[in-house]
Amino acid sequence: MNEEEWIEHGGGRPGALSAADLAKFENLWDRRTTVLRFLTEPIVVKLDPSHPEYSRARQVVVTGPNDIVRVKELGKGAQGVVYLTHHKFTKLPIAVKVQTVRNAHDKEQLRAEFRLLSLLKHENIVTFYGAFYSEDEKLLTLLLEYMDSGCLSSAMSKLGALPEDVLSTVARHCLQGLEYLHSKEVVHRDIKPMNILLSKHRNVTTLTDFGMSLKKKPFSKEDPELGGTIEYMAPERLMDETYSYPSDIWSMGLVVSEAALGSHPVPNRSLYWDMCENRSIRGRCLEMLGAHEVSSELLEFAETCLEYEVTKRPTASQLLQHGFVQKHQDPKDSALRDWLLQLDVNLR
Ligand SMILES: Nc1ncnc2c1ncn2[C@@H]1O[C@H](COP(=O)(O)OP(=O)(O)O)[C@@H](O)[C@H]1O
Ligand SMILES: [Mg+2]
Repeated sequence: MNEEEWIEHGGGRPGALSAADLAKFENLWDRRTTVLRFLTEPIVVKLDPSHPEYSRARQVVVTGPNDIVRVKELGKGAQGVVYLTHHKFTKLPIAVKVQTVRNAHDKEQLRAEFRLLSLLKHENIVTFYGAFYSEDEKLLTLLLEYMDSGCLSSAMSKLGALPEDVLSTVARHCLQGLEYLHSKEVVHRDIKPMNILLSKHRNVTTLTDFGMSLKKKPFSKEDPELGGTIEYMAPERLMDETYSYPSDIWSMGLVVSEAALGSHPVPNRSLYWDMCENRSIRGRCLEMLGAHEVSSELLEFAETCLEYEVTKRPTASQLLQHGFVQKHQDPKDSALRDWLLQLDVNLR
């Protein structure tokens, strides 16, 4: 699918931009106009009837930054800070990601993230409501669905390793998100537990953080910008070879191994790099999973994701048919629901 077709595809989604809106935004941005669409037009968040706030409001209108009240910090990443906020009148929780536009490079990167979020609509991709941009402060504020159980990384630090039925569900949700992304010709490039979010309310897992997606740039071992995510990076990326969708599948192999073990199999960055280089990483992960007495299906799932030969690595669609995913199929995803209930998260 080419870019124009995505834009076609993005139209009509509640809370998302239509093709015409996007064109307007792009023009404004390109002309360095100080006021963006969302500073003058309200963001309308439509709630589905199952939403806990539905009885209070069917839709929530955000006309500007003053309509949202900051509650607490949810996370900090390389590019900005994410806060839990609530809507001043209805108290609808909204996650906001505030990012500083320091230079042309930032601007390009944030623009790519904004563009992608505007065009993607899938139940396993975090819902994007809209954005504010303040020219004075050089701040871009993205309004996102609040994922009330936080990220997979913090969930693991509270509850430890995921039981296999929960892990299978999380993997299925992530693979559905990846299948969708890859069908849109997007490589996520930063799949890791911190970028996988959980919602107790929707009983679902979503992918987030498209700051690295689609951004092709020369990459070298010394590049400090990539430091935080080396431990999930596919060998072909570390070795500076060409890479594509399969690199996200490799990262899923690491995520699944970590979630099954309760901690990353090789948390030391330079050791991980060396083990990718000398091709011992896959053996190490499988050995650790074996010692942990995981099921044969889970072991085989990790083995196939961590295939060194890019062309032999399965696609997200193929993995959705894998025995590990199929074995725990449950239309209600009750295992995930029960597990998320154990997480003691302050909602608001
Ligand atoms: N929509 C959300 N709901 C709940 N928590 C979120 C949400 N978005 C992000 N977070 C938290 O904030 C962290 C950083 O967000 P992310 O979008 O990954 O930013 P960065 O680009 O800075 O890494 C995540 O790891 C997660 O813990
Ligand atoms: Mg992140």
